[in-house]
Amino acid sequence: MVDLIIKNAAQVVTCAAPHPKRGADMLDVGIIPDGAVVIQDGRIIAVDTTQAILAQYTADNVIDASGQTVCPGLVDPHTHVVYAGDRIDEFEMRIKGATYMEIMAAGGGILSTMQAVRRASVDDLVAQTRPRLDAMLRHGTTTAEIKSGYGLDTASELKMLQAIEILDRTHPIDIIPTFLGAHAIPPDYTAEAYTELVIHEMIPAVMDWFNQSHFDRLYIDVFCEENAFSLEQSHRILSAGQAAGMLVKAHVDEFNALGGVSMALDLQAASVDHLDVTSAEEIQRLAQSGTVGIVIPAVNFNLGSTHFADARGIIDAGGALAFTTDINPGSAPCPSMPFVMALACRYQKLLPAEALNASTINAAYSIGMGASVGSIEPGKQADLLILNTPDYRHLAYEFGGNLVRTVIKCGVVVAKQ
Ligand code: NIG
Ligand code: FE
Repeated sequence: MVDLIIKNAAQVVTCAAPHPKRGADMLDVGIIPDGAVVIQDGRIIAVDTTQAILAQYTADNVIDASGQTVCPGLVDPHTHVVYAGDRIDEFEMRIKGATYMEIMAAGGGILSTMQAVRRASVDDLVAQTRPRLDAMLRHGTTTAEIKSGYGLDTASELKMLQAIEILDRTHPIDIIPTFLGAHAIPPDYTAEAYTELVIHEMIPAVMDWFNQSHFDRLYIDVFCEENAFSLEQSHRILSAGQAAGMLVKAHVDEFNALGGVSMALDLQAASVDHLDVTSAEEIQRLAQSGTVGIVIPAVNFNLGSTHFADARGIIDAGGALAFTTDINPGSAPCPSMPFVMALACRYQKLLPAEALNASTINAAYSIGMGASVGSIEPGKQADLLILNTPDYRHLAYEFGGNLVRTVIKCGVVVAKQ
């Protein structure tokens, strides 16, 4: 007798792989027609055809997924979902013609969210973020990375990390934390003076917090961009974080190509994120490395751009690609990974299979979670979605609605519609 069997699924799509999928392997999502999944103690113990599973197992609890698809819970590997307030006024300013970078240079953008976050308590941040995590969960996200980066002083960055820790303990979504003290230059600092503060004051304080937290892994990230951190400052900050025990990620080439991909690859970054204006040479270098490229078409869409990162080029060069929403109040107020998949298939010319692998197994590896989530394989955490369609490709084909009918986290139904 096992805890749960999901049977009769028109398709079980496993996305199984012992490492991030690269190049042409991203076309393989591992379809089992008429599939079933067996769950015990929150873990997957078997996946096969319904006939093979029912010959071997019986369960207390059986879900009949006839006419539906079972796929892994989605993984969102780059988010700024902890914040206070909103940036609805900037949305209107952009509609009238201001650019994201102009708004940022005028002290709005990230700095306007910084003001709201500095005013908020840890409890305010938790309360304002929880409904956004609920929306992500309803759209199928079961694991997410969350960055600090709207505090921009030591106490406020720690406040954000404390909110992240509380949310990880109290929300079904599994959270991986990232310290992004180097997200913007706060008022009253030069870039250089703030870089020194991040390195000498924030990193040690954040490591003290981390060592007492329940997390077993912490990333460091930096916004390597004009009017944010130069290539040299980004390198110094990431190196200092790495020396203190953090793992490396970087926002690179979102608006201007400063050489951030090569800099981050030299530090063995887990991922390089955005890649909107990355050169063909650096795409090749990335594709030949162990680093996952994370692209963010929801930002291009939200900023009204028709230019998208060369995701097709990364895959065709044999690279490992992942997607993310980048959910944040400025460049991407978007909780939905399926919407990101829909954008990528249309504008970046990915097939739905590539989009699903980029949103599950590869996204999981990009945050160090590939051994435990991101695919339907025996031994992994039972994080699964039941989709209201007999063909997984509809997840990218349809948009504007929500095909996620049931979300199962560690073997338990946590959302249903
Ligand atoms: O990934 N580019 C820097 N950071 C975010 C935007 C954050 C914000 O606008 O609040 C991004 O796009
Ligand atoms: Fe970001």
